[in-house]
Amino acid sequence: MSSTTIANPQNSGCQYLPATNDGAERSPNQYLLPLTAKVNHKEHLEIGGCDVADLVARFGSPLYILDEDSVRAAARQYREAFRRYWAGDSLVLYASKAWSCLAVCAIAGSEGLGIDVVSGGELYTALQAGVPGDKLYFHGNNKSLEELRFAVDNGCTIMVDNWLEMSTVAAISKAKPQPVRIMLRFTPGIECHTHEYIRTGHLDSKFGFDPDQVEQVFDYLRQQSNVDCVGLHAHIGSQIFELEPHRDLAGVLVGWYKLALSYGLPVEQLNVGGGLGIRYTESDDPPSIDAWVKVICEAMTEACKAQDVPLPRLLSEPGRSLIGSACVTAYTIGSQKVIPEIRTYLAVDGGMSDNPRPITYQSVYRAVVANRMKDPLTETVTVAGKHCESGDILIKSAKLPNSQPGDILVVMATGAYNYSMASNYNRLPRPAGVVVKNGEANIILQRENYVDLLRHDRLPGRLLHPHV
Ligand code: LLP
Repeated sequence: MSSTTIANPQNSGCQYLPATNDGAERSPNQYLLPLTAKVNHKEHLEIGGCDVADLVARFGSPLYILDEDSVRAAARQYREAFRRYWAGDSLVLYASKAWSCLAVCAIAGSEGLGIDVVSGGELYTALQAGVPGDKLYFHGNNKSLEELRFAVDNGCTIMVDNWLEMSTVAAISKAKPQPVRIMLRFTPGIECHTHEYIRTGHLDSKFGFDPDQVEQVFDYLRQQSNVDCVGLHAHIGSQIFELEPHRDLAGVLVGWYKLALSYGLPVEQLNVGGGLGIRYTESDDPPSIDAWVKVICEAMTEACKAQDVPLPRLLSEPGRSLIGSACVTAYTIGSQKVIPEIRTYLAVDGGMSDNPRPITYQSVYRAVVANRMKDPLTETVTVAGKHCESGDILIKSAKLPNSQPGDILVVMATGAYNYSMASNYNRLPRPAGVVVKNGEANIILQRENYVDLLRHDRLPGRLLHPHV
């Protein structure tokens, strides 16, 4: 294997080294590909021992390529960091909204993680992947009665978000032989710097009880005979690079924990949510998983000492930082439009339907050309999707080698909130997904076809007129 050190794209070299939150020293531009990424003797990108161009030849494009080793490494980093910095019990939950499918839930489950689900659909997926109900935590600000019953019947913990849900859960619990296990979600009132759509900790948020209601909620729960309030939860937002808000959160949670104990509630778990950011570009500089866990554990330990309460079981629920850098999306390059003095558009065979993040949050991505990994980066182009929408741009300004129709463009760090937010806009079938490891590639998401697109369409008889 002639593995090549991949140079800084801002110099004349070509590509990027693996993304990781492991805290190891690397130069700032070297973090965007999955851990197993290499350049092989054909000068092609290889991930999980598989040549990316071969994967596209075999499975088609667009193609989500998930590196199993990278997900497992991130899970291990979380587990080991909690073991290192937390003296009590802990559990890491995978926030499956980042990417919910059978294979990803099964990998998370096999790493000993619990799973945070936010709908009956995510709950069903995790159960079908073999994750036991008692490791599932059900979030959401407007769960239906049906969803709540489904979760309770499967032994999940309900993350109660508001008064309506509280009374629904209390009513459901009356018919159950065992107490229903819940945790309470509060809005912590902590500001952080991230896109406004993915900020949840500030007071003006649709999620969770207002902190002013803490005592009222505790008082209500004290009167419920068949509801066990086992914990408290707060989440401040996503793609966060600052550690300070997480430190503040620990203090806030421990204050409520002490109060809950004074009400005689059986609270023994605190959940700090997720939110650790990842690298999408060479200038992003998120803290490592280890640093994130360390700050939280130290702040929690200090706060518990100061408030004289026992160490709780410490839960966290990362999504993006477990899966985001473990996946790339491979596209086939098609048409080019050169507008002299203005820009060159390079179109690929997917776009906003498989990655809605650039158009939704103005997210910035980087790309490489998988079959030209050593060619010099001579072009600056705008990578456009194929949807009927001018805003369907994946990358505004991509530095790439001179490439041809049929070349394979790989957009990096697409594991989080890409497939899970994918759509059939313009009736594009959703891409296939493969998991790669040690030279083996297995389908985890079958590519949709035209029949799939019509699966739920119905044509009422009266519309079956012959066309005039
Ligand atoms: N826990 C709760 C209660 C959450 O709301 C979230 C994310 C997480 C955990 C996981 O956060 P993470 O570790 O992934 O940052 N679609 C947006 C992200 C929305 C995040 C929603 N909540 C995006 O594409 O950036």
